[in-house]
Amino acid sequence: MKVAKKIVKGIIIIILIPVAYILVSLILTFIPVNNEEQSDNNQSIYLSTNGVHLSIVLPENQLDPKILDGLKYSDNDQYFAIGWGDRDFYLNTPTWSDLTFNNAFKALFLKTPTLIHITRYSTTKENWVEIKVNQNQLNKINQYIYESFYTDAQNKKILLNNKGYSYNDDFYEALGSYSCFKTSNSWVNSGLKESGIKACWWTPFDFGLLRIHRKKNSKNERVIIQGSSKSNGNTNKVIRLVMKELEFDLIDLNLITIGHFDYEFKNQTDDFLTIIKKIADEYELIVFATPVYWYSMSGIMKTFIDRISDCLKIEKETGRKLRGKNMAVISCGSDNDEVDGFFTPFRKTAEYLGMIYFGNIHVWIEDELVSDEVETRIQNFVKLLKEAESNTVLSNK
Ligand SMILES: Cc1cc2nc3c(=O)[nH]c(=O)nc-3n(C[C@H](O)[C@H](O)[C@H](O)COP(=O)(O)O)c2cc1C
Repeated sequence: MKVAKKIVKGIIIIILIPVAYILVSLILTFIPVNNEEQSDNNQSIYLSTNGVHLSIVLPENQLDPKILDGLKYSDNDQYFAIGWGDRDFYLNTPTWSDLTFNNAFKALFLKTPTLIHITRYSTTKENWVEIKVNQNQLNKINQYIYESFYTDAQNKKILLNNKGYSYNDDFYEALGSYSCFKTSNSWVNSGLKESGIKACWWTPFDFGLLRIHRKKNSKNERVIIQGSSKSNGNTNKVIRLVMKELEFDLIDLNLITIGHFDYEFKNQTDDFLTIIKKIADEYELIVFATPVYWYSMSGIMKTFIDRISDCLKIEKETGRKLRGKNMAVISCGSDNDEVDGFFTPFRKTAEYLGMIYFGNIHVWIEDELVSDEVETRIQNFVKLLKEAESNTVLSNK
């Protein structure tokens, strides 16, 4: 009986320890620290997650030169996602399907050696969570990261050759031991906490920090206005590709009723005023996407643009709100012949309304196929939009 009692007791303890760990972790995750808002937060760093592990992402120009010194990177690498974790786990568990009980047990319960994992990117990613920091906080987070690198007698970082998962990531020897009390996520959390940035009291999870820093009621500030006669036609196919790269809402003019411009504003009860007010109130970047119909924008799109005249007479307030917003244009034809002056009406309209014209692309779909050239144009267009957006944000500061 005594043995049976001991076994039951043992089983209860084995079950209770992880339950207690999770409970305490959850409580500490929901206690925020460094709550006070700073007024001079004018620099951006980011959090990225692979669904389990967080990394701190710093733009190349915000990284301390002593961190960059000895790192493997090229001119194209503009953002560095930096994580810290268990050596064995990193090297032997590139995906969750590679997870073994042995690796997980050793990482969690024994004090094990660690690595810094750096993934390099040329642009920001949609799913990163932005954190606004001031120069003092940025200096501290740089120092925290720097002090996590193991360096040799010559003060050089130690790169593990050919151990990255892909072409854009690498591992470096790190300081500190991994355990269930110091995990990759708690490393990120401690970095923020020590730098005076809002963080959790302590957390082994990724969601605590993401929850704190994800913008409240964050809504999408970009919209594509689709002006094709076919809701799921070629123009829409291209729009979908753009939306895979960048978050946009979509307004399909084919599905709403917008009458022609009328000098007596006889059409003011149709859908136009509702839509243009929504656009003016909710979005910063407006991308017009039109098929090429008879060497020009589609009739649906032209009618929409004509109706902006309503905003100069009966809806002036909305017209004023368009000032300072950003515009870009996509044209979709049947071949790569861009019609001379195709984009001029858009550019001039932007100028007239006081909008900032980011640029345009011409794409085409032949035999229902998106060619490599069109794919590349879309990628470049997305890059242009992102860069133009970040320049506008900076110049508005
Ligand atoms: C009424 C009409 C006029 C067109 N005119 C042109 C044209 O002038 N130049 C061109 O390259 N393609 C022209 N096209 C082809 C379309 O631009 C092309 O098929 C486009 O990808 C269609 O996009 P959608 O499916 O969104 O309508 C025309 C198509 C239609 C229906």
